[in-house]
Amino acid sequence: MKNKVMVIGSGGREHALAWRLSLSPTVQQVYVAPGNPGCEQENKVKNIAIAANDYDKLLTFAKDNDIDLVVVGPEQPLCDGLVDLMTQAGIKCFGPSALAAQLEGSKAYSKDFLKKYNIPTARYASFTQVELAIDYLSKQDFPIVIKADGLAAGKGVVIAETKEQGVKTIKDMLAGNAFGEAGHRIVIEEFLVGQEASFIVVVDGKNFVPMATSQDHKARDNGDKGPNTGGMGAYSPAPCVTKEVFDKTVECIIKPTIQGMIDEGTPFVGFLYAGLMIDESNNPKVLEFNVRFGDPETQPIMMRLQSHLDEICLRAINGDLKNTELSWDDRAALGVVLAEQGYPQNYAKGSKINGLDIEIKNVKIFHAGTKKEGKNTVTNGGRVLCVSALGNTLKQAQKLAYLAVDKINWESKYCRTDIGFKAID
Ligand code: AMP
Ligand code: GLY
Repeated sequence: MKNKVMVIGSGGREHALAWRLSLSPTVQQVYVAPGNPGCEQENKVKNIAIAANDYDKLLTFAKDNDIDLVVVGPEQPLCDGLVDLMTQAGIKCFGPSALAAQLEGSKAYSKDFLKKYNIPTARYASFTQVELAIDYLSKQDFPIVIKADGLAAGKGVVIAETKEQGVKTIKDMLAGNAFGEAGHRIVIEEFLVGQEASFIVVVDGKNFVPMATSQDHKARDNGDKGPNTGGMGAYSPAPCVTKEVFDKTVECIIKPTIQGMIDEGTPFVGFLYAGLMIDESNNPKVLEFNVRFGDPETQPIMMRLQSHLDEICLRAINGDLKNTELSWDDRAALGVVLAEQGYPQNYAKGSKINGLDIEIKNVKIFHAGTKKEGKNTVTNGGRVLCVSALGNTLKQAQKLAYLAVDKINWESKYCRTDIGFKAID
């Protein structure tokens, strides 16, 4: 019997997941709710016009269409309990429960969890009151990191270089409304230095299997300058995750996290993403947890994954990941995000994108913020596309990705021109 799969979300991550699922011989049909124009170009993939936060409609669709597997892309539906809703209705839905999703949904929760289970992370304290936060800040070294507690689409983190900037950030978040509800509690934490990497594993509650290693570029501009974004490009593998770093991450971070979630009574099922900072002595610390796949890490990682993604997710849901091994394309993959100028703040929408029909071997264009307007595809979000390529080396993947990037244009296209620089130069 072949699987009917539904993917929830509309970004580049969801396009990549839907595409990879569609390539599985055990998949009959992939629906994406609501998807984007790129998803629909794939064989066996169909968009359905249900928003990712219209949970009742998603459930009804899954029931009416005998969906065998639901894969949830973004964090919000996970934190809102979509997996709980689907599971209670007897539908196999891959991702953590709302309680387990707090690992991402609340920075204060995840920091307390890390501390309780002795998992390496930056020193921190949480606050809801301005005076207490400022008092604590005054006794710290700078730079220091201030984070909104709740979900803020990767933008709720401020690195304050000075006390003045720190005080302003505290006031903006706690007293003002800079991040809405998400900012009414904050975490202030020690600034860590080192190399960042994304460590993503699939967890079945008890067992896990690692995804290929990867690295993202969170800052908007070349050389890791400019404001933080959701991610401007990624590649896999990440050379900074050496065997030593990998083993330490598994032993000191992944295993105790999975066990800790069992001990809390909220076992974790889903993609568990530890954002790592690796110091000079190759010791990884957790910068943050995400309870979903990374965007744009998914795009290059899915280009390398050879195992059948539907089987992996179903095994995880069934608690059956033990002895599972994933197979990977040995080549490297690198994805460059094409964004609208001004992202992540204010940006235009609606420009016609040219060059989307290019066909280059080993290149894949994943859509994110795009939409159809008659025959044209136009921009419809901050991150518009992720142009990804495979190569024998990261350098070759980079060269090929940028070759394709140069052929895709619109009026206010913006991208970093140095994706992969840390692993290549
Ligand atoms: P987060 O959403 O917590 O991953 O933070 C977003 C980005 O801010 C990270 O990818 C890091 O680049 C940076 N960051 C977060 N926490 C720290 C920290 N404690 N020290 C240094 N940089 C940090
Ligand atoms: N690429 C970072 C994230 O998905 O949070």
